[in-house]
Amino acid sequence: MKEMILQSKILVYAYEELNEKERELIDAAKAATQSSYAPYSKFCVGAAVRLADDTIVTGSNQENAAFPSGLCAERTALFYANASHPETAVTDIAIAAAVHGQFLSSPIPPCGACRQVILGVEERYNQPVRIMLYGTDGIYITDSIKVLLPLQFVGNTMKQ
Ligand code: THU
Repeated sequence: MKEMILQSKILVYAYEELNEKERELIDAAKAATQSSYAPYSKFCVGAAVRLADDTIVTGSNQENAAFPSGLCAERTALFYANASHPETAVTDIAIAAAVHGQFLSSPIPPCGACRQVILGVEERYNQPVRIMLYGTDGIYITDSIKVLLPLQFVGNTMKQ
């Protein structure tokens, strides 16, 4: 038997420590929570995606009475970005979440399906996506979704 230890390094920032572009993306994710349609969960999530040409695209979670038919904020933003700017790589994504108008104190972790889609975006444009998870107590930043999704399933996995 062998033991394999997978480690994740996440940097924790205060909002005041972020540079202007980082704050801009966090602010856009926070603002995007306003367009969330979450009558069932009341959990309002916003995502802001920065593209290589500095375009910012935002999205929010959109729920449906048939729960699985809804979509998370991250995928709403990423699919919209990819559909409207297919030639332009995604460089960063910021995520924020609010309940009853109050932002979460702990950074919002993306769900597993969204992690997989962010991984797919990294594969598609062959470059990492920087992840910024907003919480009022701190902002988690990683340089790639691979930090949050070890043992990745990608296209090449099927070719072995
Ligand atoms: N949600 C997101 O938008 N992003 C995530 O990463 C986690 C969950 C949404 C889906 C649903 O509308 C609500 O939050 C509760 O799960």
